[in-house]
Amino acid sequence: MSEMNEKCNEQFIGKSPKVSEVEMTELVLPNDTNLLGNLLGGKMMHWIDIAGAMAAQRHSNRIVATVSVDSLEFRHPIRMGDMVILRAKLTWVGRSSMEVVVKAYSENIKSGTVTLTNKAYLTFVALDDDRKPVQVPPLLPETEQEKSDFIEAEKRRSERLKKKNQNSM
Ligand SMILES: CC(C)(COP(=O)(O)OP(=O)(O)OC[C@H]1O[C@@H](n2cnc3c(N)ncnc32)[C@H](O)[C@@H]1OP(=O)(O)O)[C@@H](O)C(=O)NCCC(=O)NCCS
Repeated sequence: MSEMNEKCNEQFIGKSPKVSEVEMTELVLPNDTNLLGNLLGGKMMHWIDIAGAMAAQRHSNRIVATVSVDSLEFRHPIRMGDMVILRAKLTWVGRSSMEVVVKAYSENIKSGTVTLTNKAYLTFVALDDDRKPVQVPPLLPETEQEKSDFIEAEKRRSERLKKKNQNSM
């Protein structure tokens, strides 16, 4: 099959979450830290958003906008000089919206210790050239974990939309 036919096919049949997975690695530099020498929360939120957006863009082959970020906890401080590894993977896809889970790990360079520090669910919407929501390829979960993530994501989505309607501005 030609590359173009393969792309058209993906638009209709869908893509597995594996295809759009993203791994991003950052080094915590002095400018990224607070007065305690720990990574700033805002910097971590920025990296999580970027990693998630890249996965959603890979799935949809579109520019995406962030529409929601579920609660984010900071359980372990990350020190200056540590590496941060962010892994983003699609869990669910609707018509134009996509849920992405991003897990962040810190890695100490000297000891090699790796710690899961954050986990966040973000929703992105794919936009067309007029910046309007546009349909994206379906998600084809393959593993048992991906199938169960998809079901759990649907529950989170309905909670999110319920909250959105309650708080409508
Ligand atoms: C993205 C945007 C164009 C979507 O416009 P909209 O009027 O909400 O569009 P729709 O109501 O058609 O919703 C589009 C999709 O997003 C979903 N959605 C909208 N708000 C949502 C929320 N709070 N949580 C989860 N999903 C949401 C809808 O359910 C719909 O999903 P579907 O197409 O898969 O069924 C608009 O919300 C926007 O511009 N937001 C600002 C984005 C931004 O600037 N992000 C950076 C953050 S500072």
